[in-house]
Amino acid sequence: MSRTVITFGTFDVFHVGHLRILERAASHGDRLVVGVSADALNLRKKGRAPVFSEAERLAIVSAIKGVDEVFVEESLELKRSYIEKFSADVLVMGDDWAGRFDEFGDICDVVYLPRTPAISTTALIEKISQV
Ligand code: CTP
Repeated sequence: MSRTVITFGTFDVFHVGHLRILERAASHGDRLVVGVSADALNLRKKGRAPVFSEAERLAIVSAIKGVDEVFVEESLELKRSYIEKFSADVLVMGDDWAGRFDEFGDICDVVYLPRTPAISTTALIEKISQV
């Protein structure tokens, strides 16, 4: 039977850590669905708008090999309903979230993958702004 994987993130200033987690998420099933967080959600949670708009971030993520479907994640509190809506069998998250989504173990497998070392959107923005 075909397995659907779901993962979530902002994917702003797309970098190799984003690419690697999407590649590894895809390897956990047959179909990969990615929730890309809304501009308004980022503004609420991080206090700043992403560099790239949600339309741009969706376009980039949807163009990555192995990504089958993308949608805008409007709220962090809706994870359970997104998992159900897309009939996901596996939730993949970076291990910066380790343990935080174990509650969904009743409806899907929950897998935390190690982050790619030494790169993040925040670090990139800082590095570029120092040039
Ligand atoms: N990710 C990863 N390795 C990295 C950076 C991110 O595996 N070096 C993963 C995260 O664990 C998450 C996904 O990529 O599952 C999207 O992460 P996101 O928060 O958008 O990227 P960050 O670079 O962590 O952004 P920020 O610095 O703004 O927190």
